[in-house]
Amino acid sequence: MLLVNHKTYKASSGGEAVKLAGYLLEAGGKYNIRTVACPQFADLKEVAKILPEGAWAQHVDFVERGRATGWTPPEIVKDAGAVGVILNHSEHKLSYEDLGKTVEKVRNLGLEVLIFADSLEESIEVAKFKPNWIGYEPPELVASKDTSVAKAKPEIIEKVVNAIPNTPILVGAGIKDVEDVRVSLKLGAKGIGVASAVVLALDPNEVIENLASGFRL
Ligand code: G3P
Repeated sequence: MLLVNHKTYKASSGGEAVKLAGYLLEAGGKYNIRTVACPQFADLKEVAKILPEGAWAQHVDFVERGRATGWTPPEIVKDAGAVGVILNHSEHKLSYEDLGKTVEKVRNLGLEVLIFADSLEESIEVAKFKPNWIGYEPPELVASKDTSVAKAKPEIIEKVVNAIPNTPILVGAGIKDVEDVRVSLKLGAKGIGVASAVVLALDPNEVIENLASGFRL
């Protein structure tokens, strides 16, 4: 799975979000891989029209619909077309108590869920919530311009994969080229998470294509 997190970059909002979804749709078909976009909430509906099987929310809250100003109950993203959510990103951490409640609610709605973890220890902790995916990202390498998790911490990828054999692991942080993808997959990861290298690229389509080609055996 190739997941592009739009975060809140201006370069990935509005019309650019729709373009990114189109590139992901095309690369997914060409390389026969799952591609997922995590757009900004305001773009979710439009992105879901382009990438109906791969529109995921960047976060949701376990609150009930109604008197919850500024919160995002998962029903709202589901109604907008999301089929999955990411939770506990290093830029949006949750307490384990809140995470447990949120995962349960998300699962009851039939949405897929990926929980991010910052370390091997946290990966083992969040595996207890039985998410569909665990995303391992060392926060200090997120948005790194000169290295990546695959280059700087390959041994930890393998440790996370071995520690949690029953849950597919996505890795991210500084991923920028086909070699990062190949190394991560070789170490047992099943998915790649990326943001800055795609979103801030002069030619995001070229980067998506390059990353997706790394899934080819
Ligand atoms: O969710 C993926 C993201 O945190 C990775 O960011 O900019 O290092 O690709 P980046």
